Amino acid sequence: GASDLVSIKDTLVSIAQEGGDMMLAADPSVDTSDSKRNSSDRVTATDKAVENMVSSRLRAAYPDFEFLGEETLKDGQKLGDAPTFVCDPIDGTLNFIHGFPNTAISLALTVSKKPVVGVVFNPFRNELYTAIRGRGAFLQKTNGSIHKLPIRQNPTALTGLNGCLVAIEWGSERSGPNWDLRTDMTRKLMSAKSVGGAMVHSIRCSGSAALDFCYVAAGSIDVFWEGGCWIWDICAGWIILEEAGGMVASANPGDWDPSLEGRLYLAVRGAASGQEEVIEEMWGCMGERK
Ligand code: IPD
Repeated sequence: GASDLVSIKDTLVSIAQEGGDMMLAADPSVDTSDSKRNSSDRVTATDKAVENMVSSRLRAAYPDFEFLGEETLKDGQKLGDAPTFVCDPIDGTLNFIHGFPNTAISLALTVSKKPVVGVVFNPFRNELYTAIRGRGAFLQKTNGSIHKLPIRQNPTALTGLNGCLVAIEWGSERSGPNWDLRTDMTRKLMSAKSVGGAMVHSIRCSGSAALDFCYVAAGSIDVFWEGGCWIWDICAGWIILEEAGGMVASANPGDWDPSLEGRLYLAVRGAASGQEEVIEEMWGCMGERK
């Protein structure tokens, strides 16, 4: 029931705050930083320690629920229909290592592969984003004030990509199809003519897909696009964005697996109108996926 979801949200918030304290206390320069796929795909001892804390707290509180985490993913493990906690202990690990304060812990609950509760907490700015399906999305700022998202309660219409601030993440891949997609998209979006004569205001790469979703939910970014992020990066942000009136779509037309395993995500802020037009124009920029 709804009250269960509220108590789950409260549990996730307190776990996220505990994880945030661990991140603030850590000195990533002395962590044993391992690299996963290549030297820009990092994991620190803090990523692992936070995930261990999160999974043991959640297993104790909700022993019947599944757990899927970035750092403890089992071979072949997939998101299923059973209630599942999805955890990214540090989204924006590279930011964390470099001391760039755009890093968050991202915790979600999915039911039937759809996020129903989402919590994204950036301890470095003490900003907490939360949502429960059907109950709206909220941002609690450093000073304790709580804002219903989006920040502007009557968000203006979108007129395609013209004038949009677009976030694109680069991820850790340095070659291959997702890398090709990102470079092509960047070039197209930043060239004056290719978007049907429209010009985007600019593009941003914050280093955290979870926070990008939250910024789109807040309305401070108009569109977020990434081909190649993972369920744990965007699951909590997904519900936060939808509850703020935003839309999540496939990052390219066709062959999208809506079970959160497609790895191709396009997010558009809440708007009086024009969301579909933005999606069409983004797809137009992409052309055929290579
Ligand atoms: C990464 C970040 C990055 C995005 C990658 C993600 P991580 O998450 O969100 O912005 O481009 O696709 O994997 O590895 O820092 O948790």
